[in-house]
Amino acid sequence: MTPKGVQAELERLRREIREHDRRYYVLDKPVVSDAEYDALVRALKDLEAAHPESVTPDSPTQRVGGAASADFKPVTHAAAMLSLENAASEEEFREWAGRVFKGLGRSERPEFVIEPKIDGLSCALTYEKGRLVRAATRGDGTTGEDVTANVRAIRSIPLVLQGPVPERLEARGEVFIDHADFDLVNEAQERAGREPFVNPRNCAAGSLRQKDAKTTAARRLKFYAHSLGLWEGPSKPETHEGYLKALALMGIPVCSLRWKADDVDDVLRLYNEFRQVNLPELAFAVDGLVVKVDSLALQKRLGTTAKCPRWAVAFKYPASKALSRVEEVVFSVGRTGAVTPVAKVKPVWCAGVTISSVSLHNFDEVGRLGLKVGDEVVIERAGEVIPKVVRVVAESRTGKETPVAPPKACPACGAEVVKEGEAVAYRCANPSCPAQIKRSLLHFASRDALDIEGFGEAVVDQLVDSGRIKDISDIYTLTMEDLLGLELFAEKKAENLLKQIPASRKRRLAELVFGLGIRHVGEKTAETLAELYGLSELARASADELQKIPEVGAVVAASIASFFGAPEVRRLLDRLKDAGLNFKKMPKKETTGLPLHGKSFVFTGGLGSMTREEASAKVKELGGKTSSSVSSKTSFVVAGTEPGSKLTKAKSLGVKILTEEEFMRLIK
Ligand code: IVH
Repeated sequence: MTPKGVQAELERLRREIREHDRRYYVLDKPVVSDAEYDALVRALKDLEAAHPESVTPDSPTQRVGGAASADFKPVTHAAAMLSLENAASEEEFREWAGRVFKGLGRSERPEFVIEPKIDGLSCALTYEKGRLVRAATRGDGTTGEDVTANVRAIRSIPLVLQGPVPERLEARGEVFIDHADFDLVNEAQERAGREPFVNPRNCAAGSLRQKDAKTTAARRLKFYAHSLGLWEGPSKPETHEGYLKALALMGIPVCSLRWKADDVDDVLRLYNEFRQVNLPELAFAVDGLVVKVDSLALQKRLGTTAKCPRWAVAFKYPASKALSRVEEVVFSVGRTGAVTPVAKVKPVWCAGVTISSVSLHNFDEVGRLGLKVGDEVVIERAGEVIPKVVRVVAESRTGKETPVAPPKACPACGAEVVKEGEAVAYRCANPSCPAQIKRSLLHFASRDALDIEGFGEAVVDQLVDSGRIKDISDIYTLTMEDLLGLELFAEKKAENLLKQIPASRKRRLAELVFGLGIRHVGEKTAETLAELYGLSELARASADELQKIPEVGAVVAASIASFFGAPEVRRLLDRLKDAGLNFKKMPKKETTGLPLHGKSFVFTGGLGSMTREEASAKVKELGGKTSSSVSSKTSFVVAGTEPGSKLTKAKSLGVKILTEEEFMRLIK
């Protein structure tokens, strides 16, 4: 091909791929199959590989930047990214509308645009002359994080706009993930032995803020623009509606669901109708509606408060409740043998997900609810939280309901189930119970423990069921043949898994102690123990001795001593030692004298000026500790933007709450 011919072919392929991206992501009307699309991308890649000088940064092949996006650089927003005021009831909405009418004066009758409030994270895309030059998260509203490399990996976001475009455009919107893709990500997380994401919002945030843009690319994130950051150049729209239409023409995805209303009652009708008609059908998580004044000129007249525009409000739906029937109560066996009752309910839609299974936590809870099989129950699920049964509808009983009794035998191995003293949990007493072994293995291999990637549920199930693995130490004698014998295990996958295992031998003792899964020993306690003892010494320490450690109470000390007292644990330790795991005591970090010595921090919400990891590292560097959950022992909770339930808990426990600024001053 002549150089000209190559150029023309490159452009043709790029144009065609962009058009398919637009059809797929923006119009939701793909016209080619995934395989045909992949073939086009492959053709482009091959051609670019043969002519590397012709690769442009906005080529569709450059979306999955192989390069790590390193840490996120701070970006100062051209105009502050504000938050929305909330209206939690009809009254509050009327009050907001009253303020709008008052602000504009009697003569003005504003039109409202109503859109779903998408539960994702906000992101600002800047285009110069139609090319994507920057993407930034909201951060603290003034300064966000530069996530350009990751956003380039999101296929629904155009790198190049179409048609007449403004000189400079900042389109703000929401990065989110569909329920179905969220489920796929979580299945993969679980297979890899990683913690699943608690909700789609979390998943989208975690997927966008990845060091490696390839991970972002694999997550099928979506983007809908919903507000205007900046429009420099001619043809600036006059209304919000006009702005969204202009974006759509340029190829920027906008949500197709939106309505207009010109009085408050219309909005209220829509609010109720949307909840019943649209919400159950939506592919993505929505926690309310956003009502906006349509005219940009009127928006300007209304202006903003320090935090929120006066021309928009988030009209939220309260935590959702749903009615369903308990069809069965099953028992799941955890890593420590605890038997947890789980209600299998008739599948029901609630707050954006289908619920078919609800943990009842323990038998005391079953007793407190008075729950029987066959009962009609009220299930509640607020945005962030896992569903729970809040009450039994006793009025609708027929008399055929049957009580729930703790099982006498373990559902996994048939061994006796015992209740220890006053403890709420019933446990399977068999240390070689396959259900317990599976959970222990998954915990041992999890990221915060020995971090063996690829050692997920499917692998563990097969290895334990076939008898190849009887305890943790058997991981270290796994061979290629063992793995190739498993279903769905090709050579490459087996090789990858085997490659992961040697590194786990070198993990620090803290991770090994945590990975052993001793009851009541979390990461922090494991860290403390590993700084005080080598593993062999720890195994010999008495409960009395352990209790002298400030962070270790009587229950924890007894649990550690009884764990290591078991003969099978002794044998396990011998085998782990032979396998070459790191038993060495860790050097103790000297923190007395450091400014944050003895202080513990919990973070909630996003920080604008640094990542959570950086903030944690800073706290540790200054002698403090961090934890993922709030307790009365927590010294400070640092509340960033959009803080979660940890803030509520901190308030209820009276723990001191710091804003990001106060935290920054503290660590300066
Ligand atoms: S308009 C002042 N429209 O909700 C900002 N925001 O709770 C104007 N959000 O940070 C935003 N869906 O990221 C707007 N249709 C929508 C939205 C939406 C979700 C987010 C947005 C904002 C947050 C505020």
